This record gives sequence, C-alpha cells and structure tokens, in this order.
Amino acid sequence: MKNDNFYITTPIYYVNDKPHIGHAYTTILADVLARYHRLINVPTWFLTGTDEHGQKVQRAAEAAGMTPQQQADDTVGRFQALWQKLEVTNDDFIRTTEPRHQVVVQKILQELFDRDEIYRDEFEGWYCVTCERFYTEKDLVEGNCPEPGCGRAVERITEPNYFFRMSKYQQWLIDYIEANPTFIQPDFRRNETLGFLRKELTDLCISRPKSRMGWGIELPFDADFVTYVWFDALVNYISAAGYLSDDEQFASLWPATYHLIGKDILTTHTVYWPTMLKAMGLPMPQTVFAHGWWLVGRDKMSKTAGNVVNPMEFADQYGVDAFRYFLMAEMSLGQDASFTEEAFIRRYNTDLANDLGNMLSRVTKLIGSYFDGVIPTPQEPGEAEALLRDTTLKAAEALVSSVERMRPDQGLHGLSAVVREANRYMEVRQPWTLAKDEATHADAGTVLYYAAEALRIVSGMLYPVMPGKMSELRSALGLLPGAPVFADLHEWGLLKPGAPIQKMKILFPRIQVPKSNDKAAVATDKPKAKPAAKPAPQGVSMIEFTDFTKVKLRTARVLEAEKVEGADKLLRLQIDLGEEQRQIVAGVALHYAPEALVGKTIVVVANLKPATIRKVDSNGMLLAASSGDQLRLITVDGDMPAGSSVG
Ligand code: MSP
Repeated sequence: MKNDNFYITTPIYYVNDKPHIGHAYTTILADVLARYHRLINVPTWFLTGTDEHGQKVQRAAEAAGMTPQQQADDTVGRFQALWQKLEVTNDDFIRTTEPRHQVVVQKILQELFDRDEIYRDEFEGWYCVTCERFYTEKDLVEGNCPEPGCGRAVERITEPNYFFRMSKYQQWLIDYIEANPTFIQPDFRRNETLGFLRKELTDLCISRPKSRMGWGIELPFDADFVTYVWFDALVNYISAAGYLSDDEQFASLWPATYHLIGKDILTTHTVYWPTMLKAMGLPMPQTVFAHGWWLVGRDKMSKTAGNVVNPMEFADQYGVDAFRYFLMAEMSLGQDASFTEEAFIRRYNTDLANDLGNMLSRVTKLIGSYFDGVIPTPQEPGEAEALLRDTTLKAAEALVSSVERMRPDQGLHGLSAVVREANRYMEVRQPWTLAKDEATHADAGTVLYYAAEALRIVSGMLYPVMPGKMSELRSALGLLPGAPVFADLHEWGLLKPGAPIQKMKILFPRIQVPKSNDKAAVATDKPKAKPAAKPAPQGVSMIEFTDFTKVKLRTARVLEAEKVEGADKLLRLQIDLGEEQRQIVAGVALHYAPEALVGKTIVVVANLKPATIRKVDSNGMLLAASSGDQLRLITVDGDMPAGSSVG
C-alpha cells in the first residue's frame, strides 16, 4: 500500500558532462509536480542527484586529467547551480559517492550475497562500453549494441564476475506488470517492457573487476571488484529515502509515487529495478513514467552535431519562468518534442507576451486610470461575465485533471485559452470606452473586476510552472506574493473591491526576432521613438501592379499609444517594425482608445515619406477599413513577427 506522501524522483545524472536540456526537462517536470502537490497540501518529497561512478565518469576524468572524484566534485556543482537557477525545489540531493549511499549499497549486496541471490561465475559476453552493459549474441542488433540510440560496436569479454539471479523473477515481473497497469506509463512503454520480457531474461552481471574499471563501490565480499554502476545507481531511490538508516523516514516515503525517467533508461527501471526490489522484499514504486526525448528541430541532440542546448544560457537569455513554461507546454508527456529557439520565441510571444502579459498590463493600466488604482466593485454579471467565470473555473479544474493524467501540457493550453478569451472579452466589452461615460463607468468596473479575477485564478494555477513571474503578477493585483491558497483557485470573486493594485513593469517583454536570425542580436524590446525627417505626402489613383509593389506594407506591433494634444482624432503611436521602432500619427482616436491599441499587430505603409501632422512627426501610415462612421484597423490573423511583409 502506498502511504499518503507524494515521493517523486528524477534519474540521477551522470557527472561526465555538464547538464543539458534533457536533464533540465525531467527536473523541471518533477519540480512542477512537486510544487503542485505541495499546493494541494499533499506531503511531498522530491529527490534528485548525481550518478558518480562507472566507466563514463572515469573516462571523462581521464580526459580532463582529474581523478574521478575531482571530476564528480567539479560537475556536481554545475547541476546544483542549474537547479538553483531554475528555481528547482528538491528536498534532497543524493550523490552516489556519499557514504550514506555507499553503505546502503554494500549492505544490500552483502545480504543478497548471503541469501544466494548473488553468485560468482565465469562470464563471457558482448560488452558495450558506452552503455556499460553486457549483451548476449541474441541481444545484438546487426552485431552492435541493441540499446535504442546507441548501436555502437561491442567488445567480447571473458572474466569472472558476480551475478544477480534476475532470471528467476521473470514470470513474477510479467504477472506484476500485467496486474498493475499503472506501474509502467505510458501504456506503450509498458508494452515495450513486456515485449522485452518475452525473451528469456538472463541473470544480471553486477560487478566489474577492478583491473578493468576501478571507479565504483567495492563489493563487500570481494575486494577485487566494484559494483556495476546501475546496481549502485538505482539504489539511490531508497538509500536517500532512509532505507537501512532511517526506518521512520523510509516508511513515510517508500514506495515512491513516481520515478520520472527518459525512454532510454526504461529497461533498467522496469526490469532491473523491480527485480532488485523484489529480491530485497520491498514494495514496487507506484509508477515509472518514461518521457520522450527533446530533439533539436528533428535531430538528436549530440555534442558531435554541436546542437546541445545549454539550459543555463537559455534561462539567462530568456528568463527562468518562460523557459520552464515552454518545456512544460511544448512536450506532450511520453512523446518526443522538438526544441528550437524559433518555437520558443513563438510560444513566448504568443502565450506570454501577447496574451498573459498584455492582459495584465491592460487591466492594471485601466484600473489605475479609471478606478484610482483600486479593484473596482463588480455589478451583477451579464452573460459575457458568467461565461468568462465558468470558462476560467473549468480550466482550473482541467489543469488539476491534466496533472493527474500526466498531461500538464493540456492543462496549460487550457489556461492559455482562458487568457485569450479574457482578452477577447475586453475587446468586446471595451472597458476603456465604458469608463469614460458616467452612466457606464460602473460597467467598466465589472469588466475589469472579471478580467482581474480570471488573471488571479490563471496566475495561481500557473504558479507551479512560473513561480517567479506569477508571484509578480499576483503582487500587481494586490495579492500576497508566493504560493497561492489552492482552494481559492476554485472560487470566484475573492479579489476585494477597494484593495489597491500595484504598478509594475512589463511582465513578459516581447522578444524581437531579427531577420538575420543572429542569436546574439535577439533582444527584448524597449519602446523608443525615432527622430523624423520632413514631410512630402503623395497619392495615386489607378496603379499598375509594378506601382503596387513599390508600396512596402509591413506588420507592426503597437508598443505605446497616446492622444495628440489638441487633436481629437489623432493618436501618436510608437510601433515596432521588427528591425526598427518608429512613431506614426493615426486618425483613429474617435474609434480606438489608446489602451485598446497597445499590443495589437497592425499593418502599416512602411515606405511612406515622413510627414509632420499637428506638429508631430509621422513615419508611416496604418491601414484601416472605413465605411460611413465606422472604422476598423487592419490586423493580422494569428501571430506574425513585427516587420513581416504584407502583400
Ligand atoms: N545515470 C543514469 C540514470 C540513473 S537513474 C538511477 C543516466 N544518466 S544521464 O545523465 O545520462 O541521463 C539522465 C536522463 O536524461 C535520462 O532520463 C535520459 O533519458 C535523459 N535525457 C538524455 N538526453 C535527453 C534528451 N535529449 N531529452 C530528454 N531527456 C534526455 O542515464
């Protein structure tokens, strides 16, 4: 029986190299799940750590001219610094070179040896140096290592060794997996393990002669050997939890709720580990969940291809929270996902800058301008309000179930949809217009209250994914920073009318994508007006196609908008044209409030000669459709980078 605790683990990472995005992904996923369970008041324990023994580490140390221990000490710092940077809230960090782990591994080995679960034999087999595993002739794929993603040449080795009687548990394991469908997830991975178990299971070689590879935990019953790195590493999940050292802690944590792993280490976790636990007489972890791989574009990430994404640099450049959000929203658990900077920027600009950030700045600016900076009092809700309320509460529920189903990406997409819906609600209700008229001022208050409530709930639900930014967002709404109270996220109407909101800087500044795609030039935008040249308006009636091509139409994003003093119809806009920012003057003030324009992607004539209108320089012209008294801006359907050509 599982105790009430949520105990989640990541694989422990080899210290042969610095961390990459695959490591960051699993650890952030574990962190999101841990934070989420803490939020719902489930006692939670989150373990990560490093796998410091074995050939890989020994070889890396040799190449770096260090001892394996120095190599481990050096690299473990990089992992720990990364987890700190990425706001990872692990409760424990285990290193397999720590005495607390080594002692437990040796005790287990001795006990299994005494019970004849481990025996000595002469061994001959095919050995893959990279995977550090022996294979039988039958296992090999075209004579090479059968491990998915490896396929390297194997060596024939004969030597005495120690073996764990894994084969005797084969039928038990098959029965266990079949009787416990949630033990291995997703389902297709369970089938993969069952497929593997259709072949005859051999005993597991759990030793390495020191003469060949000395970097490991010495066998307690034979000083000429060290422990095979996987037999050592898997034990971390129980040694860190207090097995054979702290019975009370162990009883409260084991069995683990989730072992999160990548798909390449499925066999070790779903065949070796359960049989080891069975031999020790311990219960099985509840679920071993194997996620897919992050590819870079369509390619495997590899040092040789030079496409390894450095999570530290990425988070430095684009922000920790946005990085966490992207990883969680982009991968559907179980499948491979593609990581590219372009995909990151697209999602960031759409979900975070355009939708969430823009929504917050609209709401806070309007409350600041028209309601003295305090949360307005809502009136009776109309249909639109009730719809927004219901959609938001439903999305909060859906996030809960998506986390339970291990599909956080789906829950996050639901929350994004709420923000888009809330922005649309604002467009339809136009609180900036309602607020100006005394008769409808209170209605504007209702709209802003409902929009702010949607933000309160969405930001609370997003807190485990983006703790830093959501804390800032919540402070802006006058809420306490830090983790929200979970029950409050399922109740509507908790923002207190009259409570002050706070001014804040742009939450997610939009990322500019330079045309050259030059990484170093990618930067966040800061609105600035450009100096202008002198006027010379021009006009044509009927034109040839070649004439039309002379007109350079471009998409532009409105960064700032304000009224031109003394001119009822004019707005002065600061716009972002991708490679430059400009000021234009537009005669749309009777149809659009300045706040309503900020964040919109419009279409402008980019090569119109500059003009001065009412003493204000204008460097281009926006396009709008008009009919009689009506006027509507030409906007772009979907998200396009600023500066995209139109025509
Ligand atoms: N030390 C072992 C695990 C022992 S657990 C008892 C190990 N370490 S590792 O550092 O090589 O890999 C750790 C994890 O990173 C694995 O789950 C692996 O699947 C994952 N990833 C490695 N490359 C990856 C991607 N490109 N994408 C996602 N995860 C990937 O294996």
